[in-house]
Amino acid sequence: MTQYHTYDSVIIGAGGAGLRAALESSKRVRTAVITKLYPTRSHTGAAQGGMCAALANVEEDNWEWHAYDTIKGGDFLSDQDAVEIMCREAIDAVLDLERMGLPFNRTPDGKIDQRRFGGHTRNHGEAPVKRAAYAADRTGHMILQTLFQQCVKQGVEFFDEYYVLDLILSEDRVAGLVAIQLATGELHVFHTKTVLFATGGYGRVFKVTSNAHALTGDGPGVVLRRGLPLEDMEFFQFHPTGIYGIGILLSEAARGEGGIIRNANGERFMERYAPTIKDLAPRDMVSRAIYFEIKEGRGAGPNKDYVYLHVDHLDPKVVEEKLPDITEFARIYLNVEPLKEGVPIQPTAHYAMGGIPTNVDAQVIQDASNTPVTGLYAAGECACVSVHGANRLGTNSLLDIVVFGRRAGIGMAEEAQHLDLAPLPEHPEADVERMLTDLTERTRLETIGAIRGELQQSMDDNCGVFRTEDTLRAQTNKIVELQDRYKRAGIQDKSRAYNTDLLEGVELGFLLDIAQVMVAGARARTESRGGHYRGDFEARDDVNWMKHSLAWKINGDTKLDYKPVTVTNYQPTERKY
Ligand code: FUM
Repeated sequence: MTQYHTYDSVIIGAGGAGLRAALESSKRVRTAVITKLYPTRSHTGAAQGGMCAALANVEEDNWEWHAYDTIKGGDFLSDQDAVEIMCREAIDAVLDLERMGLPFNRTPDGKIDQRRFGGHTRNHGEAPVKRAAYAADRTGHMILQTLFQQCVKQGVEFFDEYYVLDLILSEDRVAGLVAIQLATGELHVFHTKTVLFATGGYGRVFKVTSNAHALTGDGPGVVLRRGLPLEDMEFFQFHPTGIYGIGILLSEAARGEGGIIRNANGERFMERYAPTIKDLAPRDMVSRAIYFEIKEGRGAGPNKDYVYLHVDHLDPKVVEEKLPDITEFARIYLNVEPLKEGVPIQPTAHYAMGGIPTNVDAQVIQDASNTPVTGLYAAGECACVSVHGANRLGTNSLLDIVVFGRRAGIGMAEEAQHLDLAPLPEHPEADVERMLTDLTERTRLETIGAIRGELQQSMDDNCGVFRTEDTLRAQTNKIVELQDRYKRAGIQDKSRAYNTDLLEGVELGFLLDIAQVMVAGARARTESRGGHYRGDFEARDDVNWMKHSLAWKINGDTKLDYKPVTVTNYQPTERKY
């Protein structure tokens, strides 16, 4: 039997953005947080190297330099008004977390310590600057724990291990949502005035990824199915230093602390690609450089398909104290001793720049004129504000989640204070019931796992660091084939309690939808910019393409539209480092 709940505001997702929003919203109105995982298992906990803010605790810095770096790092696709807000509010955002008890690393005189990270520079690109506040290489873990403790202290209501499957819109505004309780298989309808999606990324659309298994694009998938667009889906970030073969992250903090990348010949090749800041160039540039080194035969190993991250020249005490997790990962997963030798690495699918389009108050917008959807919000990786443009700088995502999570929490609660509940349709869970019954009762011709595996491998091959019309056309056809096979795939487990077979079936549906709009956006964009690199259109084309894409899925097909980038202070320039 379906259970009903009524709240003023409902937040979906208990990572950094969701928890930061919950702290604000629950102070103002009756708020629930619904989360597919137990909150402290959210993927924010896997973020390693830091959260940036121009605190100037260690070196001269200011928020305008940070804003400039973010815009240039984003290859001039970022909305500059949003970047200014983020970089200005960064300083208070870090200090808020400090006051909540976050155990940041400290300088000898007791200030929050800061380290270097890719693309963050002094005075518009002169040299790398120490801007990332950090807690060893467990910064995301500490943020998640700190925010969760504050939520518990404040009595925030959590629905743990509830998976949101549908958004209910009524008369063009939010009326509620439908979730399945994983422990029982029961459906729950939440009748609410405002909803925030804070569901994280969708890196699981790729095979080699730093993203946890849960990151299947559920939030953007639900929004897309309800007829709303997604923004800039062609831009996906590949982090240069994933553990070879499995993609688990080795933090950029390693390079921030002085680590370097070398090819099979022992050459520090980033000197050729980014002579000023070398290994601390933005991630799109470093990942592309690794791709070209491998393509030109300078990769290491039997298949010449990886390069090395070196920290073996650094003081072992610094490595052990400031990078304890990643050095242990190298030992556990590769049986390599990073204090003595290079660690095999390859680019790993890491971060979605695209997502649910929002304005700077985290309100979801529904068209190229930026018309907001009443009651609907998004923040964090599932959203596209857009601060990161075509390529995010490292440590700007932990910043994004707390700055825009906070703004979302305040905005959704204040809007809820002025709204009545919109009426629910007579049978709000009907579409979800149909989807679940269909998945459960289909004749099982093949498994969900087989289709997911082919999707991930083909996305790596055709829509990764390097793309062309040929690879993207092949991927379009592959997705059509997989979507067709998905209609005939079924699940084996017909039980209700913790049916992970069913869960994975639903997740694959979202992944296929997401992949479809990613590839359509990438195919249409005949230029190279940030994380979107076209071998057949290698130059950035500001005349035709300095614009955001919006993608809808209508009757199975992708429809694309475009909207201008907001420029305040910085006209696009050549992106040299
Ligand atoms: O390399 C890292 O520690 C990742 C940080 C980020 O994605 O911001």
